[in-house]
Amino acid sequence: MADRIAEEKIDQVRQAVDVVEVISDYVQLKKQGRNYFGLCPFHGESTPSFSVSPDKQIFHCFGCGAGGNVFSFLMELEGISFQEAAIKLAAKVNIDLEINFSASGGEKRISNELQAFLNAHELLRKFYHHLLVNTKEGQHALEYLLGRGFTRESIDKFQIGYSLNSWDYVYKFLTKRDFSSEWMEKAGLIIKRERDGTYFDRFRDRIMFPIFDRNGNTIAFSGRSLGADEPKYLNSPETAIFNKSKILYNYHLAKPSLKKMQHAVLFEGFADVIAADRSGVENGIATMGTSLTDEHIALLRQSVQTVTICYDSDKPGIEAAFRAGNHLNNGGFQIKVAMMSDGLDPDEYIKKFGPEKFRTEVIGASLTWMAFKFLYLRRGKNLQLEGDRLSYIEEIIKEISKLNKAVERDHYLRQLAAEFSLSLDALKEQQKQIFFTEKRLSAGKSESVKKPLLIVKQERELKPAHYTAERRLIAHMLKNREVAYKVQDLLAGNTFNFDEHQAIITYLLGFYEDHLEPDSSAFLTYIQDNNLRRMVANIEMMSINDELSNQELSDYIKQVLNYQKLLKIKEKEVEQKEAERQSDFSKAAAIGVEIIQLRKSL
Ligand code: UTP
Ligand code: MN
Repeated sequence: MADRIAEEKIDQVRQAVDVVEVISDYVQLKKQGRNYFGLCPFHGESTPSFSVSPDKQIFHCFGCGAGGNVFSFLMELEGISFQEAAIKLAAKVNIDLEINFSASGGEKRISNELQAFLNAHELLRKFYHHLLVNTKEGQHALEYLLGRGFTRESIDKFQIGYSLNSWDYVYKFLTKRDFSSEWMEKAGLIIKRERDGTYFDRFRDRIMFPIFDRNGNTIAFSGRSLGADEPKYLNSPETAIFNKSKILYNYHLAKPSLKKMQHAVLFEGFADVIAADRSGVENGIATMGTSLTDEHIALLRQSVQTVTICYDSDKPGIEAAFRAGNHLNNGGFQIKVAMMSDGLDPDEYIKKFGPEKFRTEVIGASLTWMAFKFLYLRRGKNLQLEGDRLSYIEEIIKEISKLNKAVERDHYLRQLAAEFSLSLDALKEQQKQIFFTEKRLSAGKSESVKKPLLIVKQERELKPAHYTAERRLIAHMLKNREVAYKVQDLLAGNTFNFDEHQAIITYLLGFYEDHLEPDSSAFLTYIQDNNLRRMVANIEMMSINDELSNQELSDYIKQVLNYQKLLKIKEKEVEQKEAERQSDFSKAAAIGVEIIQLRKSL
């Protein structure tokens, strides 16, 4: 892509950007002491173990070990190169990187291809929209949309269009403009015929909904048939620029209101998103007809805390809402569920009852997650029958057992007691029993993915003393150049016991050759190895005393060296045994003396 960026420019960018500000675009951060904390965008968690240090300009997650500086944050989160991250950050702080964009090999070719994908989508989006709103050919499609309640305003806002009833209009349109047919096939816009290798248009005579990425680029289309043609919605295939499991429809337009309200409304289809938007609900999003993935959850986490699920109120819709709710619940979101009468979908509801009622009686009156679960578990049961009633009560108690707060458990148990005229004490007793049975069951299962913070911490504490000593020494060496050299002297040619630790100090001493002052963020850029970078970020986040006393220093060094001596002693003991076995008693005695000396020096 681009030539190397000058190092001074990188330094300039690093000094101008603030890691807290950049990460805040993706993660809700709360200040706590000197650092900021939030839910890690790199793994699913419900208690914050992701921390950002404004002093050091670095981040680290104690849960999954992710860590680095502002560059590596963007690289990992957006899956981009160092160069691309630098370009993004430089733009943010108005620094001209003075890059020389010369053609350079393979990378350039790939990037040209992606650029062509994007250009073609952009061009077609405009063309399809024009056909819909300005031409005779598109008139029946426009009438269909208006008849369904779409307004001209939302047709423009969502850039809805129409694809002609032709087998090759788009093919000719694109090739005339020098787009390679091979590439356009890869972009999913045209399809190759097996028999003769000719091409035809993927989308014909359909209402075209452009799909935007989070930056507003058109990366795919979904085309709705006007009649009863199957499929109802025809989507672009997965391509190098379109990955369904990462895309939320309308995320790009909704982003400002998502952030402002800290709240998203999740719909099943984009017809619903558009109808809701028209009704004044601007924070609506939808998946592309798939169920919610971890990537969707991570994306949502960057802007909201609450999600209202507003799926179709028919049987499959309710099942899907239950699954989505559980997934979001594991992701740490506050969840609500909006329901509509008569199994309607949001779009139909709005058409029938109007925007006002939709806002107040559907979105405004949505259920808490627990209340929805009560309703969900009740479906298909006849509570007049004793059997159904008892199994319902047991299922509810199971759900109540999952609640962490005693007050909440008490609240729902009381509700249950009142509804079925049961004794509260009996319910509490049964709830405890269920709680412990479930716990025993889950203890037998494989380890849960979500490891609580405490366990992660304990694991670390089980490491041997010399491991901790090395980490503490590195922490001080990172903070103070003098200490770094002092440790190097005291080691007197010995190395740290852990290869990674030794690699870190080798990097660090190299770094101090050209940097007179410690600089956590700059050092992380200096380290080439991603794994070491994470380790350094982790060590940086350890709390240590500002000053390192000589006593403390020599204790740590002793622990590092003693471990090596212990290994040596073990080695000598084996040698001694071997000498004895061969009846070489003078050799065994000499080794014995060495062992005694080594023991003394510990
Ligand atoms: P629905 O069938 O609920 O569509 O599919 P809808 O939103 O009510 O649309 P209208 O009102 O009939 O026009 C919900 C979502 O599932 C995906 C689409 O993303 C759609 O928005 N879907 C549906 C497909 O991808 N292909 C299909 O054939 C149908
Ligand atoms: Mn619909």
